[in-house]
Amino acid sequence: MDALLKVENFTMHYRTTAGHVKAVDDVTFSLARGQSLGLVGESGCGKTSIAMSIMRLLPYNSEIKSGRVFLGGQDVYSMREEDFRKLRWKEVAMIFQAAMNALNPVYTVGSQITEVILEHEPAASERDARERVAELFCTVGIPEERMDHYPHEYSGGMKQRAVIAMALACSPSLIIADEPTTALDVIVQDKILREMEEIRRKTDMSMIYISHDISVIAEVSDVVGVMYAGKLVEIGPADDIFKRPRHPYTYGLMNAYPSILGEKRDLATIPGEPPNLVFPPEGCRFHPRCDWATDECGTVEPPARYVGPNHSVACYNPFPAPSSGGDRIGVATA
Ligand SMILES: Nc1ncnc2c1ncn2[C@@H]1O[C@H](COP(=O)(O)OP(=O)(O)O)[C@@H](O)[C@H]1O
Ligand SMILES: [Mg+2]
Repeated sequence: MDALLKVENFTMHYRTTAGHVKAVDDVTFSLARGQSLGLVGESGCGKTSIAMSIMRLLPYNSEIKSGRVFLGGQDVYSMREEDFRKLRWKEVAMIFQAAMNALNPVYTVGSQITEVILEHEPAASERDARERVAELFCTVGIPEERMDHYPHEYSGGMKQRAVIAMALACSPSLIIADEPTTALDVIVQDKILREMEEIRRKTDMSMIYISHDISVIAEVSDVVGVMYAGKLVEIGPADDIFKRPRHPYTYGLMNAYPSILGEKRDLATIPGEPPNLVFPPEGCRFHPRCDWATDECGTVEPPARYVGPNHSVACYNPFPAPSSGGDRIGVATA
């Protein structure tokens, strides 16, 4: 696999007056060029922390305890800050959570995107940049004449499209979209996500979609990663995960969010709440909320094990594969 991004055994804490928040714990995954990954989990489970780790935009109180991040083969944290700054936006761009509120109200939308291009592509003239913005507007479905309008003249959906255009501005290899559409109604949300996915496929970009709603993510991602309390508890091909979740938490998430396609089934919530990450539970971090937990789950952390091609689960009692009929699955050696 030509890995564009590799996150290896990454552990990151935040220092707070209450103690260390163990926000990312031993997370490992990789992403091939042109692949899309959906990262899901309830609020507070570390999704944005992983995104910020990849972007090397962690706050002052963060502490990387172990692990590495490679982008295009380069070790992100061994680079000089100024060298990485050149990669940011050109190689990896991010659509921040609530980004649509981040457009500057005093400048036209077109001029804000033009500025991003001029900043990262010194050879481009102002005219080149404006032409590029016109193309980007066309790509994301905003009428070109809207370039010279101000953010307050845009609808919510259009602002979101503008922020996507900004992320696309320097043709990055990877875009991280952190809850890009959560503020929008579900119909617009679905439409924009599908359009983003279409753009991604056409341009062979890689994408990380972050959401708390697994039904949204599974439909647009090649691979789905499920996070719980700072851990990546399951990762695998979206089809497998969508059809047959193996981790009890993934299963819970599938039932907690109705399909965006309008099924009217009742929401089954997962009982309890995610733990305080200053004092995460011993053993499996999910065990206090898990109906299938055994004594072992509360004492020793379950290692990630392969349950299928490119599909791994950190659970002692994963749900059986549809065809196996068996119960427990052996520890993978890979
Ligand atoms: N700057 C910070 N300082 C201290 N704790 C933080 C900071 N940012 C996030 N956290 C904590 O880290 C954990 C993971 O947060 P986050 O990555 O934002 O989760 P998600 O994006 O999945 O909602 C949460 O417990 C959150 O409160
Ligand atoms: Mg977040």
